[in-house]
Amino acid sequence: VETLVFRVSEENFDAVLDKAAAIIRSGGTVAFPTETVYGLGADGLNPDAVLKIFEAKERPPGNPLSLLVHSREDLGKVARNIPEKAFRLMDAFWPGPLTIVLEKNDIVPAITSGNLQSIGVRMPDHKIPLELVKRAGTPLAAPSANLSGKPSPSFASHVIADLIDRVDAIIDGGEVIIGLESTVIDMTVEPPALLRPGAVRSGDLEKIIGKVQPGYKDGEARTDAALLEKRAGQKYGHYTPDTKVVLVEGGSKSVPEKIVKLLEIYRNEGQKVGLLLTEETAGLPAFKMLGTYEYFLLGPREEPEVAARKLFEGLRNMDRRGLDIIVADGSFSHSGIGDALINRLREASSVKFVV
Ligand code: TXA
Ligand code: MG
Repeated sequence: VETLVFRVSEENFDAVLDKAAAIIRSGGTVAFPTETVYGLGADGLNPDAVLKIFEAKERPPGNPLSLLVHSREDLGKVARNIPEKAFRLMDAFWPGPLTIVLEKNDIVPAITSGNLQSIGVRMPDHKIPLELVKRAGTPLAAPSANLSGKPSPSFASHVIADLIDRVDAIIDGGEVIIGLESTVIDMTVEPPALLRPGAVRSGDLEKIIGKVQPGYKDGEARTDAALLEKRAGQKYGHYTPDTKVVLVEGGSKSVPEKIVKLLEIYRNEGQKVGLLLTEETAGLPAFKMLGTYEYFLLGPREEPEVAARKLFEGLRNMDRRGLDIIVADGSFSHSGIGDALINRLREASSVKFVV
């Protein structure tokens, strides 16, 4: 397919959104920014349209999509037996970076929910997807707008790199705001399970609904069989750059020391190494040699929200350079979005050191 690329501005907003909504209504695919990452949308209630998402992304069939809604009315169409606690979460965090897994209505096709009886639903805090859902008049199935196995897109250029000539349209709305995918909470189990960490933290959820169980595997897998089945959506691998990523986590002194040691070893082995670093590590005297490496600065340790916004750009940037190894500095603060940032760093890496 030939892809239309729209650069959205205040002047053409209406015209672009009308065109995009018409594409969605006729069963096509449109990529657009949200506050978390760029999404690839299609009519979530039309199985033929949803199939196009799977094909464009080369997403493994059976991996459930989530739906973007514009109103509580939309929500009532796609989900049923919504627990009272879920409504409290919507009051607290919608519109925003929280996907809520609920029992699905029959109107949601099996291809959208990956054959599960549940469906993830989110009301995004961004004018473009909200308007698109409203004007298209249907909830949008909208996974991240990357090829399966690539980092989620935080710029339209990432979407273009992955999906040009694979989708009907791409709306370029600039850089996203958060940079990591939404938090996913499964409200069909008790206590509710955190399936993916994001900008809304586990503690933020617990303030509203009480106990939340960890449901995502971060280092160790959970063995609770019922929960594992509910987590079917999470069994598919997340992005891993083509280049091997080595993550070094730990304190602000031990991490740079370990990275320097690793660099020596890799250099002796003749490996081409790139670096993803905190500003503090990059500024140390021991890193005067930095100019001899490919590197990308993620931001200050104490501001994980800056690194969250840059992480996927950094991974894509390093992954393009034909390196053998990317060494990632994991000395970020766990506060705020820090937990989610470290989770994504862990998922991207195949070797992990904790020092
Ligand atoms: O921030 C976001 O959520 C972005 C933007 C575009 O909205 N979307 C996104 O979509 O990240 P996707 O498909 O890449 O991630 C949705 C997550 C996946 O981990 C999926 O497996 C999970 O939600 N999910 C969806 N339905 C589920 C279900 N019924 N049970 C368990 N997990 C589910
Ligand atoms: Mg994704």
